[in-house]
Amino acid sequence: MSFSRRYQNVEDFAAAARRRLPRIFADYIEGGAFSETTLRRNREGFDAWALRQRTLRPLGPLDLSAEVLGQRHALPFGPGPVGFLGLYRRDGDVLIGQEAAARGVPMVLSTFSINGLKTIAERSGQVPQFQLYIDIDADWTDSYVAAAEEAGSDTIFVTVDTAITSNRERDGRNGFRAVTKITPQLFWQFATKPVWSLDLLRNGFPEVELVTGRPEYGQGALAQAAALSGRLDKDLTWEKIRRLRDRWKGKLVIKGISDAEDAALARAEDVDGIVISNHGGRQLDHGLSTVELIPEIRAALGTEKALYVDSGFRRGTDIVKALALGADFVLMGRPFAWAVAAEGRRGVAAAFDMLSAEIGITLQLMGLSSIAELKAQGPELLRRAG
Ligand SMILES: Cc1cc2nc3c(=O)[nH]c(=O)nc-3n(C[C@H](O)[C@H](O)[C@H](O)COP(=O)(O)O)c2cc1C
Repeated sequence: MSFSRRYQNVEDFAAAARRRLPRIFADYIEGGAFSETTLRRNREGFDAWALRQRTLRPLGPLDLSAEVLGQRHALPFGPGPVGFLGLYRRDGDVLIGQEAAARGVPMVLSTFSINGLKTIAERSGQVPQFQLYIDIDADWTDSYVAAAEEAGSDTIFVTVDTAITSNRERDGRNGFRAVTKITPQLFWQFATKPVWSLDLLRNGFPEVELVTGRPEYGQGALAQAAALSGRLDKDLTWEKIRRLRDRWKGKLVIKGISDAEDAALARAEDVDGIVISNHGGRQLDHGLSTVELIPEIRAALGTEKALYVDSGFRRGTDIVKALALGADFVLMGRPFAWAVAAEGRRGVAAAFDMLSAEIGITLQLMGLSSIAELKAQGPELLRRAG
């Protein structure tokens, strides 16, 4: 079947990624915490709203550009931080960075990325924004911030919903965080995915560039993954955010707020914005979907600060609803990870095409020509679906 028939929407990349990847990685990307209730709710949350269709209205030229943090981007969505992309596809993070640059949107690069900020900047012509995990050692956190500064990154997204690591049972079954050697189970998983495994044999195990050459982290992305997640600061407080604010001169966004009271606290702080996120259902299980939280969180945050949202976004209609409800920009994790794992850069390009087309068709059927009009009319454009 041809490429364009096989992939009709971004979720079609999930099955294709699973066919190519050893199970340990396919499960790591896809999985959620415990009973995966939040993971499921993130999708169901979109069903709570319906879109109004307006007809017989003049349509201008379509404009999907959106403004956030004082910058205009060509699209209202982009790739959020996902760890170890270069493990799912050789140079996966570079490929996503290149396509994001070509589309006129920023990429947010994970602390746990295989290639570092500078490499991606060199190879894509655009410096990624940086997602920061606060390390137990303040000096190490400072060294990550220094790397972002040196690379010329304009924004840090500091992730605050992972101070405690949740349990993903799929990872437990596969021993994801405990891999120190190739067990027979893992050998079998690799042997049954020859395309991925041949690349590994030819080019070796990738490393997390940010910590390469630091013996404390071990060697190879899997050992480094285990070491890095063991170093996340459990004592994460507003005080640490203030310290980071003093240290970092660029824009600062807090990623992982999912309660209006925390959004109200963020409003009073010297930060530029927040990301409503439940980490794609990977941390606290049994929370609400992020899309359901947008109205109360926007009300608590006020209109001065940027409001990003992620978790469960798969469709153009999802993005349209979030923007109508008050979000400024949408980040997407798994869709770009699946697309790059399955098809490399052309998969990422197709994901951008599909989502852009879905947004365009949706807006025009609603009688709108631009994201600016959508945001100006806001929640009026939606109805509760029941
Ligand atoms: C495989 C995987 C790895 C992730 N790694 C990170 C990370 O390193 N840093 C971070 O802040 N968020 C990380 N996230 C969370 C994403 O940034 C984002 O919040 C989430 O994926 C959004 O949900 P979605 O995948 O449904 O779009 C990761 C998510 C996935 C699926």
